[in-house]
Amino acid sequence: MDDRIDRDRVPRHIGVIMDGNGRWANVQNLPRIAGHARGEPALFDTIQGALELGVEWLTVYAFSTENWMRESDEVDFLMHFNADLLERRRDELDAQGVAIHFIGDKADPRIPDDLKERIRVSEERTAANTTMHLVFAFSYGGRLEIVEATKRLAARVEAGEIAVADIDEAALGAAMYLPEMPEPELIIRSSGEQRTSNFLLWQSAYSEFVFTPVLWPDFDRNTLFDCVVEYQHRERRFGVAQDAPVVTDGSTAINDQT
Ligand code: IPE
Ligand code: IPE
Ligand code: MG
Repeated sequence: MDDRIDRDRVPRHIGVIMDGNGRWANVQNLPRIAGHARGEPALFDTIQGALELGVEWLTVYAFSTENWMRESDEVDFLMHFNADLLERRRDELDAQGVAIHFIGDKADPRIPDDLKERIRVSEERTAANTTMHLVFAFSYGGRLEIVEATKRLAARVEAGEIAVADIDEAALGAAMYLPEMPEPELIIRSSGEQRTSNFLLWQSAYSEFVFTPVLWPDFDRNTLFDCVVEYQHRERRFGVAQDAPVVTDGSTAINDQT
C-alpha cells in the first residue's frame, strides 16, 4: 500500500468516470472498441487498489443515458463486452467478497436480454458480500435518476401514502436507485475532461472532484492512490465557515464527515 495515504481518512465511497478509451485507441491507431477492451484490465486493477485501501463503495460510470446516441456498432460492442465481462469476472469478484450492483435504467429495452440476465444473476449471487460494494452505473443518467425518484414519490402521494409536505431531501434521497449507498466523498475522472457528464448528480453535492489526464486504459491502482492522496490534501467545508463553530443538528457534526 501507498505510504502517502492516511488509512484513517480513506473515502468510504469513490466514484470513477472512466473516460478516454477512444482517445487511447486513437493514439495507438486502433479502433475505438480496442480502447474499451483495454479498459477492462484498468478497471480490475483499480478494483484491487480500492480493496487494498479498504474502500467500502466503488461506483464506476460504464455507460451513460447519452452514450446510447453513439454509433450502433460501438453501442453493440459495449453491450456484448459488458455481458462478457460480467460472465468472466463475476466469480472472481464474488470470491473476493465484492457485492455487485447496477444503477441506471435496467429495464431499458435497448439492453440485450442476455446482459439483463447477467446483471440480475451477478447482483443476486453477490448480494450477501460485504467486503466492498462495486456499483456499475450503466444506462445511467443522474437526471433520469432524479426524475424516477420524483415519480416514485409522486406515486406515493397519489396513493395517499405520504403528503406533499413529507417530501424533503431525505425522502428524495431514499427514492434514488441505491438508497443504502453513501454519498461519494471523492469522484475521479480520467482523460482530462472536467465535467460530470450526468454522473451521480444528486449524490455529488459535496463530493471532491479529482481530474487526472491519464486516459482510462492507462489508469491503474497507482493512479487511484495518487487521486486519494490529492483528496486527502483537500479541505472539506460543507458550507461552514472555516473558523466558525460547527452547527449540528445534535447528532453528527458535519465537519466530522471527512
Ligand atoms: C469512455 O471512453 C467509455 C464510455 C463512455 C463508454 P470514451 O469512449 O468516451 O473515450 P473518449 O472520450 O472518446 O476518448
Ligand atoms: C461519460 O463519458 C460517460 C462514461 C464514462 C460512461 P463521455 O465520454 O460519454 O462524456 P462526454 O461526452 O465527454 O461528456
Ligand atoms: Mg469520453
